Amino acid sequence: MSAVPTTTTPDAAPVWAVVVAAGSGQRFGGAKQYAPLAGRRVVDFSIDAARSVADGVVLVVAAEAADDVEPAVDAVVVGGATRSESVRAGLAAVPDDAVVVLVHDAARPVAGHGVFRSVVDAVLAGADAAVPVVPVVDSVCDPHGLPVDRDQLRSVQTPQGFAADALRRVHSSRPEATDDASLVAAAGGRLRLVQGERWNLKITAPDDLCVAEAILEQR
Ligand code: CTP
Ligand code: MG
Repeated sequence: MSAVPTTTTPDAAPVWAVVVAAGSGQRFGGAKQYAPLAGRRVVDFSIDAARSVADGVVLVVAAEAADDVEPAVDAVVVGGATRSESVRAGLAAVPDDAVVVLVHDAARPVAGHGVFRSVVDAVLAGADAAVPVVPVVDSVCDPHGLPVDRDQLRSVQTPQGFAADALRRVHSSRPEATDDASLVAAAGGRLRLVQGERWNLKITAPDDLCVAEAILEQR
């Protein structure tokens, strides 16, 4: 795992990141994005990693956090009841001249600079949507216990990268999905899969913080 550089993209094309942090963390038992992690908050790691490739960062928060001071980002906006609504709120605050827009879950604090760079590069190379995926390692079955071929499956992560116009277009019809690349692909956009990171876990339950802390210690 490499250290996160502090420089932004050298490309002329403006890159903006939307970090969605407006969830309620029902499975965690509270707002996991603000949970302490290695002496900081979960969301701080997510912002820093996004900042390593982005010219600007929009943080999307719940209404109760609207007045919190967040000096590390360029804008703070209030999200919605669903993740997709929160993405739209963030997208509305991204400047019109953005060429690449990244969407990243605040709850993925150990996503590395490399995966951010990969999705930006895939979009600059012509993809409408770039999505990091990893193979499924467990055997998989359906709810009735019937086996499902794991070789046909991938786990989908964030950060996801988009041609700004493609992401704006697909969100104009106010769709709902747990990720944005699937929306762009369903609308006929060019989807590019990039290699995700096995350790890019999403904080879902409190135990995940121990794993994240151990991963960060290795850096
Ligand atoms: N998110 C958001 N707005 C929502 C729902 C989710 O910005 N209305 C964000 C979360 O803050 C998180 C990311 O989307 O960073 C991924 O969502 P998830 O892991 O499902 O987080 P929560 O919705 O907060 O958790 P849960 O589903 O357990 O309630
Ligand atoms: Mg959720």
